[in-house]
Amino acid sequence: MSFAGRDFLKLLDFTPSELEGLLDLSAQLKEQKIKGILHDVKKGKNIALIFEKTSTRTRCSFEVAAYDLGMGVTYLDTIGSQIGAKESIADTARVLSGMYEGIGFRGYSQERVEELAEYASVPVWNGLTDKFHPTQVLADLLTIREHYGRIKGIRLVYMGDARFNMGNSLMVGCALMGMHYTACAPQKYFPDPELVARCSKIASQTGATITFCEDPAEAVAGADVIYTDVWVSMGEPETVWEERIRDLSPYRVTGELMEIAGQQAVFMHCLPSFHDLKTDIGMKIWERYGLTCMEVTDEVFESPRSLVFQQSENRMHTIKAIIYATVV
Ligand code: CP
Ligand code: NVA
Repeated sequence: MSFAGRDFLKLLDFTPSELEGLLDLSAQLKEQKIKGILHDVKKGKNIALIFEKTSTRTRCSFEVAAYDLGMGVTYLDTIGSQIGAKESIADTARVLSGMYEGIGFRGYSQERVEELAEYASVPVWNGLTDKFHPTQVLADLLTIREHYGRIKGIRLVYMGDARFNMGNSLMVGCALMGMHYTACAPQKYFPDPELVARCSKIASQTGATITFCEDPAEAVAGADVIYTDVWVSMGEPETVWEERIRDLSPYRVTGELMEIAGQQAVFMHCLPSFHDLKTDIGMKIWERYGLTCMEVTDEVFESPRSLVFQQSENRMHTIKAIIYATVV
């Protein structure tokens, strides 16, 4: 199994055993970090991060992971650099490849990160596009493995907009790892049929299942993981809020839904989350629509069944494994 020099653009580019290998490496690096064992084996090497969208977890994970590996980091956004306005992604890729040993990217289109990788001669890592969020799902798989002691056969239900980055990547991750994935939403939020067909084909080889359901109670009964994400993602216009609130409110993860799922069920969310009124957007939505929470209630978010902060910590350990394995 060799990862040296490879990109990390989407989970579909990896085999189940390669993903298992990255999870094993993540677990090993996590254990070393907890024990205070240094692993600054990439000293003298540097990475660049190009972020066209905002971030807390992903940016910090890349930075801390690189520092722990002994590397230097440069963070570039679209305002403080030439990217986009004055310089193409192809030119940027070649410039950065001359100075850095790896490039992290967060942006809008998947095509853009693929183009960056095509022109870069160093590994490129996808830190979220509209279509996929593969580093998040790697962390989620580690979290599930830590909690349940296994991944294969785990039943994961995704509640909400299943056509965007999180729904897509979770569906792919579940298909590859032999899990049972259900997307629960009104039909118009079901993912692209082409991606579903690709995942179903993978599922037929791994023992996974991919299903869709419009009824929350039916979908969650017996689930191991109830997963949700924000109803409006970064880059989407504010005008979609009204429709999303109307369509997706019945799919909010509530205490009642967790009860229907059963005692075994845990709650997961990639974060950030609108579970209370402590954010500017949360307050605006409350003023306009009278909602005190959106995709999940504060009760579920704060409950012992919520794995959200274990997931966010695992972002760093898994991104570290990706950098460790791919940087030459
Ligand atoms: N989950 C996640 O990607 O969070 P950030 O947007 O804060 O990076
Ligand atoms: N779907 C969300 C995920 C954030 C980590 C977004 O794209 O904004």
